[in-house]
Amino acid sequence: MTDLFGNPNIKINKTHSNKKGAIYDNRNKINDLTGAEWLYWTKTVISKSYPSNMQHKLRSQHGGQKPPQLCADLIKIFTKKGQLVLDPLAGVGGTLLGAALCDRKAIGIELNPKWANIYKQVCNLEHLEEYPFIVGDANDKLKYILPNSIDFVLTDVPYWIMDQVTKTRSSATRVSNLSKFNEKNLQTKEEWLREMKDIFVKVAKTLKKNGYMAVFIGDMYRGKEYHFLAGELAKTISEINEFTLKSDIIWHDDSKTLHIYGYPFAYIPSVIHQHILIFRKEE
Ligand SMILES: C[S@@+](CC[C@H](N)C(=O)[O-])C[C@H]1O[C@@H](n2cnc3c(N)ncnc32)[C@H](O)[C@@H]1O
Repeated sequence: MTDLFGNPNIKINKTHSNKKGAIYDNRNKINDLTGAEWLYWTKTVISKSYPSNMQHKLRSQHGGQKPPQLCADLIKIFTKKGQLVLDPLAGVGGTLLGAALCDRKAIGIELNPKWANIYKQVCNLEHLEEYPFIVGDANDKLKYILPNSIDFVLTDVPYWIMDQVTKTRSSATRVSNLSKFNEKNLQTKEEWLREMKDIFVKVAKTLKKNGYMAVFIGDMYRGKEYHFLAGELAKTISEINEFTLKSDIIWHDDSKTLHIYGYPFAYIPSVIHQHILIFRKEE
């Protein structure tokens, strides 16, 4: 007999059951993890290696794809089997593939039909259940997701396409919209944050009360400066009434290569981590 964390000599009472030799607390409304698994996943650094598998070559045409196993690990922290996960910025479907790996349901929204098509191909090749994948702008398509219907949101924001000429552009000539953004036109950081906020305001409506949301975001070194985008995005999303920031998990992406851009004259970091911001919908 073991306790929640695998230590011997504790009585199992009516709130606990034995799950393949480990202890599961029947009061757990968040996930299906045992006590020991729960403790493991409270870590704020993920250093586990994720293999380049599941049609990695096909998916890597995207460039921002996330390992489906990492997505599955995150989904297992915040959902129970059979629950529904939403990714409003789905890319080639890392979240949806991850959901299929751990027997959850999922819905994706993605602007670019090319990525939707790759997601379909991967499902076929990997014999995985294909989930609804809506092609279009999340700003518009989120209205088709029922309010308070989603158990967990796992998403990954598009990169800020940095505007190097911000200081010379007058606000009168500043034009930003998502189609421009996706043609890789430049935008200011403020425009990027505003566009992200517009989407997360709509995402908040779809999430169940007390549901969690995890958002991947990488910091950037650009224009001779380090941009702490995770901090800025965390602040922006926290301004939305429903969302409270709960954690910042650092994922060490060991697939990233080091670079020597500054050597031997200046220090320029090799950014080999991403942030996973955790929010909870609390009203
Ligand atoms: C960082 S990628 C997501 C990658 C994804 N996690 C994966 O594993 O493939 C962000 C995606 O958001 C999409 N996107 C950007 N703006 C969008 C919008 N307004 N509505 C829907 N998708 C959008 C981009 O086309 C891009 O594929």
